Order: sequence, then structure tokens, then C-alpha cells
Amino acid sequence: LNELSLRPKYLQQYIGQDKIKEQLAIYIQAARARSEAMDHVLLYGPPGLGKTTLAMVIANELEVGIKTTSGPAIERQGDLIALLNDLKAGDVLFIDEIHRLPRVVEEMLYSAMEDFYVDIIVGQGPTAHPVHFPLPPFTLIGATTRAGVLSAPMRDRFGIMAHMEYYDESALKEIVTRTASVFQADIEPQAAREVALRSRGTPRIANRLLKRVRDYSEVYSEGVITAAIAKVALDALQVDDKGLDAVDRKLLGTMIELYDGGPVGLAAIAANISEDRETIEDMYEPYLLQIGFLKRTARGRMVSDLGYQHLKKENLYKGDI
Ligand code: ADE
Repeated sequence: LNELSLRPKYLQQYIGQDKIKEQLAIYIQAARARSEAMDHVLLYGPPGLGKTTLAMVIANELEVGIKTTSGPAIERQGDLIALLNDLKAGDVLFIDEIHRLPRVVEEMLYSAMEDFYVDIIVGQGPTAHPVHFPLPPFTLIGATTRAGVLSAPMRDRFGIMAHMEYYDESALKEIVTRTASVFQADIEPQAAREVALRSRGTPRIANRLLKRVRDYSEVYSEGVITAAIAKVALDALQVDDKGLDAVDRKLLGTMIELYDGGPVGLAAIAANISEDRETIEDMYEPYLLQIGFLKRTARGRMVSDLGYQHLKKENLYKGDI
């Protein structure tokens, strides 16, 4: 079974993000009734919440083609023109990490999004002149972990903005159960719940943990994923009951031990735990902020009382707290 069969194909099968789905269903239906390209969509939120999956679902529901790329992959204007030139009327162009598009490419995208053309400068010096290049109407779906880092002109050109949120326990449990059935694995409801609880609101993590739990179940219990097996496997992965992994705890522990819990700047934290700044900012920090273990202040990040209590309970911070 490949990774793709894990992805739902229709909005109906897409679990969670109910508010977004409700609105998208209307925009999709309206665009189809008018036989027009749907307006451009910006999906933003932490990694692993299903932005790419949702983009594929939208294209599928619109019954149009989709081309997938990412901001850093489009290095020059020519790369973008090649992508745009490949689109048929109504198609979706999905650009992941759209906040990482090079400036010149981003600027070329403005007219493409707004009026479906690009102007290409041909020749050099006094003979340089723009050549007008019309495009088929298309739907750009951009994905970003942080809408705040997108330039205002870029953001303003998206008619539909969708803020993806962390999934609640019941949605995650449903996703885990669905994935298990794709794997044709037998899973106890309590085991699905255990995986859900430890996946920090993120389907990608839930599905990854499920794979490891399944490995354990195949070795220890002839494939039945029991709650007991799930616990053993998840403990071995060092994922605790709040879904924190070793890096999360190292981050909080370092802040406590070296900086008295803060305030401390991101650069100092990054250097101390040997992770890059962007990874911390996009992957670790948002969830720790969401569950209230970290706080952001004008002078830097601080570990909250809740954060202290959790590390103490996990017995990972040995100091006097
Ligand atoms: N797999 C990953 N994310 C999903 C979602 N939101 N719904 C259904 N299956 C998924």
C-alpha cells in the first residue's frame, strides 16, 4: 500500500477542520456551477495538518488537474512560467511553503493570480521589451506554516483564507482508525485513543506513530494493535502523554536548566539544542504554545508553570523546581 491511499479523496472523507470544509464545499459547488476557476486559496497552519491533502481534495472535488510544487523549488521566473504554461483552464497549482518563493517569482505571480497573464522581459539594454503572455484561468492554492511571513500583496491576492487548526482527540482517533483500516490492521479503540492522545494534534504524527505501533503489534501480538502494545511502543518512542517527544523536552529542559525558564531568545535556544531556528519556530514552538507550556513575551520565550510541572512529572528535569 502506498502513501497515497492514505489520503482521502473527497471532502466527505476528510476528517476534522469542519469549518473550513463547510465553506470550501460552497465555493467548490459555486465555481463548478459557473464553470469557472475557483478563487485562490491560502491554507495556513502548522506542518502535518493536511494542507497538501486538502489541496488534492479540492482539485478532485472541482474535477480539475493539479500540479504540485513548493516555494524553494521555483528558483527562477522561467520555472514558474513552465508550470503555468502546463495548466489547463480551471486547473489547480499547489505551491507548498509559498512564503519561501524567491522575490522575483513572487512578483511575477501577482499578475498571474489577478489577471491571468505574465509579462516577460525579452532582450537586454535598449532592446529589452515586455512580452505579454496570457494564461488559462487557474486556482492557486498556497500553503504556509505562517501567514504572517507572507508579503501583504501576496496575501491580499488570495480570495479564500483557511486557518488550519490542531485536531482534537476524537478527530485524531478517527484518522488513526481509518489509517489502520487502510493498513488492514486490527486496532482496539483504546489503542487508537492512545495514539491520538500522543500525536500533538497532528495527523501526520498520528499516522507515523501508528506505523511504529503496528510494527510492535506484528512482533508481539500477531498483528492485533492492543492498548497495551500501543503504550509499550509509544513509550519506546519516548513520546509522552502530552505528545511531547525527546526534542520538545530537551527544548523545555534546556530553557529551565540554562536560562531559569527564560525569557530567552530563539537563537540561543536553537544553538543549545542543535536544531535550526525555523524548525523550532514551525514545528516545536506552535504546539508548546498551544498547550500552554511555553509563553512568548517581548523579551523572549518562557517556560510556563504548566511546562515546569510536566517536566517534573516526567522526571526529566532533575533540578529543584
Ligand atoms: N489522513 C491525514 N489527515 C487526514 C484527514 N484530515 N482526514 C482523513 N484522513 C487523513
